[in-house]
Amino acid sequence: MESIWSSTCRMKERESLKGDIRADVAVIGGGMAGILAAYTLEREGVHTVVLEAERIGGGQTKNTTAKITSQHGMFCRSFIEKKGRETAEKYIQANQAAVEEYKKIIYREKIDCDLEETDSFVYSDDEGSLILEAEAASKLGAPASLVRKLEIPVPCAGAVKFRGQAQFHPLKFLEALKEELTIYENSPVKEIEEERILTAGGSVKADKIIFATHYPFVNFPGMYFTRMHQERSYVLALEGAENIKGMYIGSGPDPLSFRQYGKYLLLGGKSHRTGENKDGCRYEELREAARRFYPRSREAASWSAQDCITADQIPFIGQYASDRPNWFAATGFQKWGMTSSMVSAMILRDRICGRANPYADIFSPDRFSSEEIPQIMKDSGKAVKGLIKRFFHIPGDTVNLIAPGSASIVETAEGKVGVYRAEDGRLFQVDIVCPHLGCQLAWNPDERTWDCPCHGSRFDYEGNLLEGPAQDGIRLECKAGASLG
Ligand code: FES
Repeated sequence: MESIWSSTCRMKERESLKGDIRADVAVIGGGMAGILAAYTLEREGVHTVVLEAERIGGGQTKNTTAKITSQHGMFCRSFIEKKGRETAEKYIQANQAAVEEYKKIIYREKIDCDLEETDSFVYSDDEGSLILEAEAASKLGAPASLVRKLEIPVPCAGAVKFRGQAQFHPLKFLEALKEELTIYENSPVKEIEEERILTAGGSVKADKIIFATHYPFVNFPGMYFTRMHQERSYVLALEGAENIKGMYIGSGPDPLSFRQYGKYLLLGGKSHRTGENKDGCRYEELREAARRFYPRSREAASWSAQDCITADQIPFIGQYASDRPNWFAATGFQKWGMTSSMVSAMILRDRICGRANPYADIFSPDRFSSEEIPQIMKDSGKAVKGLIKRFFHIPGDTVNLIAPGSASIVETAEGKVGVYRAEDGRLFQVDIVCPHLGCQLAWNPDERTWDCPCHGSRFDYEGNLLEGPAQDGIRLECKAGASLG
């Protein structure tokens, strides 16, 4: 399940860190946010080193739909209601500035990354909501208008359009941008001591540290795990579908997303909270939508993505925690990782260079508002439920009933284990206690992974860590072909 970005751009590998080095700033995480932060700082003369646990762009950046837009769903009206006009204006302006900054960098550096300037649309079958949203967006200064006729075959009353947005190939962009940067790949961080970052092969001593790791993996201080959850969504690349020019997303609880890349139409959606995909029919539901809207199309690729969701739908960008003045976080990008990455690079650059940034306050991780409380309670409730379930839920399945290609949680003399039976009959058993904070993992049939419902860590069926905040795998010894009894 390789995305079209990975399959059409092989990134040149960098060496891992060996020895002890010094930098003004160390960035942990080599995705879009980390590389943009390093690039913008280096342009200011700030010597910056990037440490990537695996490969550059190998996390969520390779799985995005790569829309560069300030239109983050149907959000303007609700932002004004919940946050007030000033915050809503700043949010739009920050993201619109990010759209323009991408274009500026790409033209200045002459980066061949299939950039297309295009419009974005949020469609809906509720005409009244569309009218109000278009009015609210215009009031905030967004390049918005209402359109009735769309080029996608989805029944709806129309859409709110944002003019002058963009789409590109995210890995081609990163590959060009990283050329001049100091980067160490395959260098997972083992420990952080205030200003010193330790890896297996060496260390970096830095005045400032930026955590650009999708989900911050240091639990205390910061406690980001109490303030975010993760969601998964799925993408199909279709060949033979009618080409479209714009970028689209629906409003409502189960929106579909559309954009074109070359001959491929990318159809995305079917989001769910990570760890809550018992039925495993997300790809099939997307395929059903593809058959309905594009009956002559053929599936060329499929993949999935994971996003950090904050309670108030605004990313956390700024000082990591009150007692860590030299640590900075960039996380909680919702489903808008491209513009949020650029916003975080600009805010952190200004902060580190001692300049004021007009948008910094609304993204600051130390913000807290009463509206977050219900969501935090809900997220914490999930964490507690996950922990409790570990002790009280006793499944009746036995390993011999597990069909090839599926998995179950099995009672053994040592306790519960997760067992996956491969198509060839081999069994893979894992510890189903999440190494992050101890929640019970759940099987995701669509991905054949063990996912954590609390904060979204994921592991493959062999127990290897796929995504944090956990830092370790869950592998147990496997007895090939044997019943666990
Ligand atoms: Fe936090 Fe699993 S990701 S307990």
